Amino acid sequence: VHAGVTEDGPRVALYGCQRRTPLAHSNQALTDALETLAEEAGFGGSEGRSLAFTRAASVLKSLPGPLTSLGELSPLPCIGEHSRKVIQEVLEDGVSVEVERVKLSERYRTMKLFTKIFGVGVKTAIRWYQEGLRTLADLQERHTELTREQQAGLQHYTDLNTPVERSEADTIERLVQEAVWQFLPDASVMLTGGFRRGKQQGHDVDFLITHPQEDKEVGLLSKVIRWLDSQGFILYQHSQRNTYQLPGDPELLSSGGGSSMDRFERCFSILRLARLTQDKDLPPGSGAQGICTQGGCGAARGWKAVRVDLVVAPFSQFPFALLGWTGSRHFERELRRFAKHKRKMILNSHALYDMAQQMFLPAASEEEIFQHLGLEYVPPTERNA
Ligand code: CTP
Ligand code: MN
Ligand code: MN
Ligand code: MN
Repeated sequence: VHAGVTEDGPRVALYGCQRRTPLAHSNQALTDALETLAEEAGFGGSEGRSLAFTRAASVLKSLPGPLTSLGELSPLPCIGEHSRKVIQEVLEDGVSVEVERVKLSERYRTMKLFTKIFGVGVKTAIRWYQEGLRTLADLQERHTELTREQQAGLQHYTDLNTPVERSEADTIERLVQEAVWQFLPDASVMLTGGFRRGKQQGHDVDFLITHPQEDKEVGLLSKVIRWLDSQGFILYQHSQRNTYQLPGDPELLSSGGGSSMDRFERCFSILRLARLTQDKDLPPGSGAQGICTQGGCGAARGWKAVRVDLVVAPFSQFPFALLGWTGSRHFERELRRFAKHKRKMILNSHALYDMAQQMFLPAASEEEIFQHLGLEYVPPTERNA
């Protein structure tokens, strides 16, 4: 029995949500190469090609061991001709000429530079590239044309592209809890996103907040933000109110669950976090220990800017929100695609709708959502598709 094959045929299921994908896997060189091409295709506006490379990479991530020969690819799903060629090159030569060329290309490098700015998506980066902009200094010159978000992103570029450590996420969790519990002691604050999937580093820290008594959570976020701001923790924030219409937003349903944007009350922020090496210099015992305030160590630059996402979900939608905000992005995409095509159901971060029965399927846990979908439960640490 070699990688990916059992006596019954291919072990690797077609959809990413039908597979277990741990964080650490045995084919990093191959998936890095394929994901570079996925990214490059996305930069060129080829969403379909990008998805094809992402799917191929995701299949390799779920293999129990290293792929050693091309023959092992034949029972695997989602490996197109182009991906196969790249895999062959990396297996034989250690690198793919095409991937190396992409990584050195001016467009790829510039697009990477620009899309790593908070608030800059592929479309904006393409436009800037086409206008001849190439460096962050070029953007600084056009400062006035940038959004407030992009200005903050540029200002904190280095910090925001320095990985957030797990210990920093834990410190921020305690701060968010301190803020939330002042106003709602029975609220729950959950770390979601990559850290819930077991990552030791992230590009940001994601939280989901709820309260067992529905409606208690209304208005909470603005109080939390105001308190954090008064304590000097907020470098940037953009809040949105809840715009979800119960029972079942017609627009969310008609979009077929394809849109990953939900309607929860949320705040995309940049917080000021004290560098953990300075922890010993701070007075112990405070819940906010390790976080720096404006008057404190800012001048000495003993702090670091960290992206934090806060999302508030009503209790009855919490399992859907948790599932939706845990990721990975590709796992989410596959869940929704599976629901739609295999089950005629629409899944989003608010609800699950059964089109045949024309009814919403409530759930009290993530497990119940997997049950409704007829999927084996996949724990968060195995959702790194
Ligand atoms: N998400 C979402 N709506 C957004 C942004 C994110 O539903 N506007 C979801 C994504 O689908 C993902 C999760 O929130 O499942 C976390 O997204 P993100 O923080 O971008 O990625 P992580 O998986 O946490 O990885 P990273 O370490 O890069 O933050
Ligand atoms: Mn091709
Ligand atoms: Mn995240
Ligand atoms: Mn996030």
